[in-house]
Amino acid sequence: MHNERKIGNELFYVGGNDRRIALFENVYPVPDGVTYNSYIIKDEKTALLDTVDSAIADRFLENVSSVLNGKKLDYIIVNHMEPDHAATLTRVIEKYPEATVVGNTKTLAFIKQFFDIDIDEHFFTVKEGDELSLGKHILTFVMAPLVHWPEVMVTYDKTDKVLFSADAFGTFGTLSGNLFSDEYEFGAKEKAEARRYYTNIVGKYGAQVSALLTKASKLDIDMICPLHGPVWRNNISEIVDLYKKWAAYEPEEKGVLIVYGSIYGNTENAAEIIAGKLADSGVKKIAVYDASKTDASYIVAEAFKYSHIIIACATYNNEPFTKVETLITELKEHNLSKRTVALVENGTWGPQANKKIAEVFSAMKDMTILESKVTVKSSLKQEQLAQIDALVAEVKASL
Ligand code: FEO
Repeated sequence: MHNERKIGNELFYVGGNDRRIALFENVYPVPDGVTYNSYIIKDEKTALLDTVDSAIADRFLENVSSVLNGKKLDYIIVNHMEPDHAATLTRVIEKYPEATVVGNTKTLAFIKQFFDIDIDEHFFTVKEGDELSLGKHILTFVMAPLVHWPEVMVTYDKTDKVLFSADAFGTFGTLSGNLFSDEYEFGAKEKAEARRYYTNIVGKYGAQVSALLTKASKLDIDMICPLHGPVWRNNISEIVDLYKKWAAYEPEEKGVLIVYGSIYGNTENAAEIIAGKLADSGVKKIAVYDASKTDASYIVAEAFKYSHIIIACATYNNEPFTKVETLITELKEHNLSKRTVALVENGTWGPQANKKIAEVFSAMKDMTILESKVTVKSSLKQEQLAQIDALVAEVKASL
């Protein structure tokens, strides 16, 4: 049974929720699921903007059919070819063979890579600034390479000032009836999931996101329709301001993220003591995570949020403890920069973590590694508290 929603003049939402998914991209836990958004503009001509993941294919096709209500589908606009949006493209093409698929040259190449399909005669290639008239609605195409794949473009409806933004401005999490972010409380939990989505999915491409934000700033936008999460309308600046910060790798908060990798609890103890001493020194914004317990995607998001990072890490197989090693690699691969870092290591006979973690952070852009480092040998001893105090004082002074 169809469940499409009218969200604007001749504009319909035909996507849906996936509450069953455990891991988005088979990597990121999504305890609150995810949406795959798709939209139809039903003007003199009709246009479908992106399709959906195969998980919700049947509902989606029912929605499309219901909105069209016997009218021909003229265009299928492919803003992004990643399968969470394009997996059902061939099913739509099979059902609506007269439709013209609209994308750029890279879109066409990716369609051919993913599908065995003879599409050339049904494909209309667009480039930056090209326009497509649906009747009343005039669409303009804006290229947004690497937000999040190289073929990504966004589509701007000049008539109703709607930006179909592909992955940009998306969030993890499903929607409970209300489709607009101003219809429910987009609170700290929702913001954290928007941050976790951005940092893990698009975070690597800050320069490209900034380029898109610059292009978007020249458009008059009343509504943003992303491919995941709510539609933005009355509170657009809320998400755009966050994106500006994230894309520039500017921390949201002056605060300290403490991450520990601890095998038997001694490194954890050092991390907890540091957290307590920071609090005693007046630092309010402190977040402590066990890298073995919390999925890296949450910690990556927190690293984008806070200005300072303290890593307390055991040595394992002569390397940083595996879970921390993985996390540090993720931070580097997501191009995190502009952070201040302090290091604490543990090793019963050959501590190596500080040296190897410092090497990784040193290779990242605009990172400051503080002088005060602590080496724990098996367990923290009373006589080392002065070193801990020095580290805490240096972090506090640099906040
Ligand atoms: Fe939601 Fe890059 O796909």
